[in-house]
Amino acid sequence: MGDKVFYVTTPIYYPSDKLHIGHALTTTMADTLARYKRLRGYDVYFLTGSDEHGQKIQRKAREADLPPQKYVDRIVATFQELWRRLNISYNDFIRTTEPRHTRVVQHLLQKIYDQGDIYKSTYEGWYCTPCETFWTERQLKDGNCPDCGRPVELVKEESYFFRMSKYADRLLQYIKEHPDFILPVSRRNEMISFIEGGLEDLCISRTTFDWGIPVPMDPRHVIYVWFDALTNYISALGYGTEDDHLFRKYWPAAVHLVGKDIVRFHTIIWPIILMAAGIDPPRQVFGHGWLLVDGGKMSKSKGNVVDPMVLIDRYGADAIRYFLLREMPYGADGYYSEEALITRLNTDLANDFGNLLSRTTAMIEKFNGGVIAAPSAPEPLDEELKAIARAVPDEVDAALNNFEFARALTAIWRLVNRANKYIEETAPWALAKDPLKKPRLQTVLYNLAEAMRQATIMVGPFMPGVPARVWEQLGLADVPAALTWESLATWGGIPAGTRVKRGPALFPRIELNEQEGEGPVAVQETPAAASPAVKEETVAKPGEEEITIEEFARIKLRVAEVLAAEKVANADKLLKLEVKVGDERRTIVAGIARYYRPEELVGKKVVIVANLKPAKLRGIVSQGMVLAAVAGDTLSLITPERAIQDGAQVR
Ligand code: MSP
Repeated sequence: MGDKVFYVTTPIYYPSDKLHIGHALTTTMADTLARYKRLRGYDVYFLTGSDEHGQKIQRKAREADLPPQKYVDRIVATFQELWRRLNISYNDFIRTTEPRHTRVVQHLLQKIYDQGDIYKSTYEGWYCTPCETFWTERQLKDGNCPDCGRPVELVKEESYFFRMSKYADRLLQYIKEHPDFILPVSRRNEMISFIEGGLEDLCISRTTFDWGIPVPMDPRHVIYVWFDALTNYISALGYGTEDDHLFRKYWPAAVHLVGKDIVRFHTIIWPIILMAAGIDPPRQVFGHGWLLVDGGKMSKSKGNVVDPMVLIDRYGADAIRYFLLREMPYGADGYYSEEALITRLNTDLANDFGNLLSRTTAMIEKFNGGVIAAPSAPEPLDEELKAIARAVPDEVDAALNNFEFARALTAIWRLVNRANKYIEETAPWALAKDPLKKPRLQTVLYNLAEAMRQATIMVGPFMPGVPARVWEQLGLADVPAALTWESLATWGGIPAGTRVKRGPALFPRIELNEQEGEGPVAVQETPAAASPAVKEETVAKPGEEEITIEEFARIKLRVAEVLAAEKVANADKLLKLEVKVGDERRTIVAGIARYYRPEELVGKKVVIVANLKPAKLRGIVSQGMVLAAVAGDTLSLITPERAIQDGAQVR
């Protein structure tokens, strides 16, 4: 990487509709990286924007009876408002209808044409308008778009073609020589096989509609929307213009963050366009999984689209950001539900993080007059807390450099939770009863405040609204040296004598209000500070560990319908099941072959653990687990007692 510069991008979103919570995921990831790198002293450039041309937008505008530009102007304003509310710190927002963009797209296309890599021919094949993608007959799945499953349209028109095939070997070699170019590895492998399957030349112009950038040498054609859109990453930097200083400084991009559905465009089409134009490819492309809701993908027709604005109003931007980053498994799909969001908010944010601050400040006020005194009486126990604090920053760094947001947060929470445990172990309320133990009490309180300080610095890029509120309460707002990443290297960044000021709970707990018609409500945190934990009555059988309702809620159980079942070769206990869970198809390997014949299972509704980490059994990736009751030699699958659609939640 050029000296400490970091250029990060999000996809530019289609202004065909308002954005949903899934779109907020990529942008939150990008913002977290941008903020983190800034904290580490990088010169960061963070770009997002809108992809405004193409047939899909033209149709949408027509349905709304508006000129396309008017239509997109309205929607783009909602994007910008969402990013403002979500605290997104982009440096630039590029719109593909801006002249600064259209000029560069035409320039790039002309350049590639002039060197002979673009030719005129006739396109005859299929087109998926929602995805804005060309498909050959062979690529279709059951006659539909292999990506989104929607119907495709037959297209026959004169088009310009880009000689992609010519560059296939060079690209393959590049991908093989740069193992980190496409992450995660599973997507890299998919792309390698895609290229090895043979690349066809790409149709890069259309004549059957006109909402696009005219082809410079033949203005009857408009430029294919993906050629137009991908170029945003360099048009925003002024590539090919009189003022290209941003391009010279920031290109190649450190990373393009994209959803898994558009990795192909970013790792095949885009690098080849760049190669043809003699421009370096981006350094990395990271393809994250999808955020799914009940019943699979979000869509207007299913009526399950989650509006991030409503959630921000209800729970605040920081909680939403935390949820998205903590809940998405690395590179794989994750699930959104309001319950899961509330669980994260109540456990990780209110109980763990918020409570550490409120207990610490309350105890400092109660036992030491609100002053953080110097730690003069260390004990060996303190070392454990400090050792974790020493290790966590490097782990956060490693995780973020690999786009493992959940891992980074888990690491920070090791420190937060260790500090909470330290409260129980040191029992400051007991130390406070003995005046001789004052130095030890002060040391314990210092360490707690210091742990909170360190955790807060690290949490800042994920939840940018949090630090200022913590610094206010810890009395550090005017101590800049105590707020830097570098200060994490030493335990003891809080100047002795600092005054705390207890404030409102950082994250009020949300109670799920059972009364009909009322949504979840926030309640003020109970002042748990300074009181020893109350032992609650146990209902678990001896030997069975109790879990909380929140822990249970993390297990996603769903109804699935068995579509097909077959024995797994050379494994007498295993059956391979194809199941349908709402809109999704999954393969599950189950150890039930001794109890059920494959044909008995087809059409049955079963219950599966839907968020179990996939595991490979006999070379088959099993995406979940089927629930069964077992007693002695009997096994019985759990099935819903009355008719209910697959995909339904079990709870
Ligand atoms: N306009 C193109 C991108 C051009 S980039 C040069 C596009 N736009 S989009 O609005 O349809 O999607 C933008 C991004 O949102 C994609 O990365 C897509 O994966 C992501 N997501 C859309 N729904 C999503 C979820 N439910 N979950 C996570 N990301 C999802 O494609």
